[in-house]
Amino acid sequence: MDEASSSAANNSIRQASITNMAAKSHTNGQIVEQRGQQCSDCSHVGSSGLNEDDTGQVGSTKSLSEDAIKYVFENGRRYCNDTYCLPNDEIEQTRQSILHQLYLCALDGELTPYPLPDSLSRVLDLGAGSGDWAIAIGEEYPDVEVIATDISLFDPQSVSIAPPNVYFQIDDADGKWTFHEPFDFIHIRDLSRAISDWPTLYQQAFEHLQPGGFIQISDGNLSANSLPPNSYFNIFISAIRSATEVAGYIPELEHLRPSALAAAGFENIRTYDIEVPIGTWPTEPKRKTMGKMALIVLLEGLEAMSLRLLTKYIGWTAEDVLDLCEKVKMEIVNCEGAPG
Ligand SMILES: C[S@@+](CC[C@H](N)C(=O)[O-])C[C@H]1O[C@@H](n2cnc3c(N)ncnc32)[C@H](O)[C@@H]1O
Repeated sequence: MDEASSSAANNSIRQASITNMAAKSHTNGQIVEQRGQQCSDCSHVGSSGLNEDDTGQVGSTKSLSEDAIKYVFENGRRYCNDTYCLPNDEIEQTRQSILHQLYLCALDGELTPYPLPDSLSRVLDLGAGSGDWAIAIGEEYPDVEVIATDISLFDPQSVSIAPPNVYFQIDDADGKWTFHEPFDFIHIRDLSRAISDWPTLYQQAFEHLQPGGFIQISDGNLSANSLPPNSYFNIFISAIRSATEVAGYIPELEHLRPSALAAAGFENIRTYDIEVPIGTWPTEPKRKTMGKMALIVLLEGLEAMSLRLLTKYIGWTAEDVLDLCEKVKMEIVNCEGAPG
């Protein structure tokens, strides 16, 4: 098919791309590895717990009210509700922002693994968290309307620094979507333990994309292949996996399977597998930078990833979780000195 007819054909379908970031630890010398404007979806926001005016309408995302958000404090960390496993306190906000930089580095500074069309007009970033990606895409495409949703106000600062075309909304991506207008790009990143029903989410995404639209799913997983099964890191990974299953979420990155997207009707599904080193050992500059960022994200994330999951869902005490985190940390730090 020539380029013109290929692009004409693509105008009638919804396409998908998947980015899989496989973070691998290096062990024992081996490499195992936004406001102010009226948003077209504002009446939708009005029903979702944000600051409403007398008419029940939300005029702009400036009206996002921190009072509307009830945080839960548990074992020294702040969470957005009683169930979502990751905290949303300042430490986690910083870690998420470093993770955003890591994704940027992996994609050579780009926000997507492929160029977006000039015709872009409405973008949805589901589970936007700190809003780093949504703000960046809003800055890069000032004429594009960007809707950034989350079940909670992750970082109030994001709302105040976001450009006027980026709108933050409180919305549960796992529930029924009620957006009024279709999107031409839907971005989903790092929601593996946030969504319990991926088939329904993909179906809703398909229905909310106009013909020719794109969906981009990115996620990552951790492995330490060369470590013995009884290594603290492997014990950590397997405990997280068990607790994730008990909590009712998919333990592995099953939502990144092309067949999961194809089942919802997506076509032209492309997969980008990116290997991320963890540690300072790589010699090639880009990999070294990624390795350093991944190391910080991992060391800072051990407690964040495990504390609620293991205490709430598989009965560990907070002390036991923190003790394991410390041991994993030592194991990773000790591996750091080994030659690559
Ligand atoms: C790991 S963070 C990822 C943030 C962002 N996508 C990124 O890549 O920087 C996951 C975010 O999903 C949000 N979240 C969890 N469950 C959700 C749900 N059911 N609907 C929408 N957002 C959800 C959390 O509040 C958190 O901000």
